[in-house]
Amino acid sequence: MTSQVKWRKVIHTTYKILPLVWKMSPRALIVSHIIMIIQGCLPLVQVYLVAKVVGTTERVIAGELPYIYAVFWLLGQVSLSAFTSIMVLVEQLNGRRLGYRAANYFEHLIIDKTLRLSLLEFEKHASYDLLQLTSGSGERGMQMIMTLRQMVMNIITISGYLLTLWYFSPWLALFLLIVTIPSFLANIKQSGDRFRLTITQSPLMRKASYLQQLFRNRDAIKEIQLFRMGAYFKKKWNDVYWEQAEENMKLERKSGIVNYVMENIGQLSIAGTTVILVHIASKGRMTIAEYVALTIVVSSAYALMKGLVNYIVRFGEDGMYAERLFNYLQYPESKQQDAKLEFPKNLTHGITVKDLSFTYPNRQESSLKNVNLHIKQGERIAIVGDNGAGKSTFIKCLLGIYPVQNGTIFYDKTDICDIRSDSLKESSIAVFQDSVRYQLTVRENLMVGNMDGVTDDKRLHDALKVVGLSSENNSLELDTALGHLFQDSTDLSGGQWQRIALARVFIRDASFIVFDEPTGALDPLAEEHIFNKMLELTESKTAIFISHRLSSCIKADRIVVFKDGEIHEFGTHNQLLGHGGYYAKMFQAQSEKYQMQSAL
Ligand SMILES: Nc1ncnc2c1ncn2[C@@H]1O[C@H](COP(=O)(O)OP(=O)(O)OP(=O)(O)O)[C@@H](O)[C@H]1O
Ligand SMILES: [Mg+2]
Repeated sequence: MTSQVKWRKVIHTTYKILPLVWKMSPRALIVSHIIMIIQGCLPLVQVYLVAKVVGTTERVIAGELPYIYAVFWLLGQVSLSAFTSIMVLVEQLNGRRLGYRAANYFEHLIIDKTLRLSLLEFEKHASYDLLQLTSGSGERGMQMIMTLRQMVMNIITISGYLLTLWYFSPWLALFLLIVTIPSFLANIKQSGDRFRLTITQSPLMRKASYLQQLFRNRDAIKEIQLFRMGAYFKKKWNDVYWEQAEENMKLERKSGIVNYVMENIGQLSIAGTTVILVHIASKGRMTIAEYVALTIVVSSAYALMKGLVNYIVRFGEDGMYAERLFNYLQYPESKQQDAKLEFPKNLTHGITVKDLSFTYPNRQESSLKNVNLHIKQGERIAIVGDNGAGKSTFIKCLLGIYPVQNGTIFYDKTDICDIRSDSLKESSIAVFQDSVRYQLTVRENLMVGNMDGVTDDKRLHDALKVVGLSSENNSLELDTALGHLFQDSTDLSGGQWQRIALARVFIRDASFIVFDEPTGALDPLAEEHIFNKMLELTESKTAIFISHRLSSCIKADRIVVFKDGEIHEFGTHNQLLGHGGYYAKMFQAQSEKYQMQSAL
């Protein structure tokens, strides 16, 4: 994001945001504008009443009028003040209502966009960029509209004031306008400095907040205490904190001095305008009442013009932040959104991968290079290989999580690019090593596997039984809240969380199943048991499982060995052992380890 306020962009953003606010709540917007016009005119009525009160009092003192006249105008003043307060209250409530709606509406836009976004965008832009793009941008948009309202309201009142002054002497109005210019320029400059500082400080702020959050994160505290990293992280946070605070204080000092000078110039200007007023009054061109009212007009007009300058500056800043919302909404969406075909029902021919290559957006080297593979219907494939060999990337391409960049993937004879995203996701299920631990109930955690099966308690219990989370002595209730973030919730061990993720597979009737090392935290007996269950479940289904424990792969129909983004070897366990290649070496190393352990 640029570190300067660009007014053309701000105006463009306003132009885009206004119709959205109108769509959100036309009634609230109309009410807001009516109140704005009334509020803009009220100060003028107030000045008129002041003139009337002073004028009438003068005449009452001179004995020209009965004192009830002065009381009448005073009552008018009191009524106006009561009316003004009501207007302010109504506007506040209306503004809050509009604010809540806007925040909700913009959040909907952001969430819906996120759901349609190609996941590759998350790889392209570091996640902090995405967060930065979206967080608070909706509120800023709403703030812009509110500030715009205030600006228009001020302009109405200021115009009334200036016209009143012009009526007595054009010089008065011109003088007042001219003396505001230095304050305007100083404010614009300060705002520019402030905005630039906020933008350049963003990485620092994020770092400070990250370091601070470490001390609020249960898992991080565990490590920090254990490895005695507390003092190191505290110092790191402290340094970043003061670096940022020093820069802020420098700017605040500068602004403070400028504001002090401007304030005094303002007071001098008001005094100067009052001198002009005295001069006009001495010529007998205005009454005492008019003089009193005009002094109020001068100081109020000056205050309002200063306010207007502040609003303009804030409007520019908010506009630059709000622009990010529209930038986010323009991100490219997943092409899968336009696909029309269904996932083949029985997958009779299987899956064919032809010359598949894939490069992450921020990388030079390809993570997959010309991968060719045919997986027959009902075949259970194990994928093995070193860390970083490309296993997870391969299955993410197969599942449509990443779009195909080069090459093709066919489900039966249908190109993956032509399969509707919903249909692809409905027909496949995947369990990853880092499945999200939703701090919700057991039922909701299982819902991730099958939204429709959520009320079928028997099915859910059966799935929990398969993964060993429901037994006669020790059963997990479906409505037990899991996690550690909320009250009355129960946390699980790492392996139990993995079992929850695995249970999702057993409540879904998917034709293509993928396991990306989801059993790493399971004890060996549980892994063996779940593995056998999985083989049973996937008997007639196409399944891929990635595992570093080669003993689990023996039962697979075929084993594919990935190395440096390529398929290095493939075949059955016995074929690969016979071949004496990389797989045989890995298998031998692992079995020697087990033999050594059993010998000990
Ligand atoms: N989000 C990413 N952005 C950039 N590069 C990535 C990303 N994810 C993976 N890579 C790179 O792509 C290559 C393949 O990664 P991948 O995750 O597919 O490996 P893997 O075989 O699943 O490894 P592991 O056994 O450790 O899970 C690696 O070099 C990795 O650094
Ligand atoms: Mg992986």
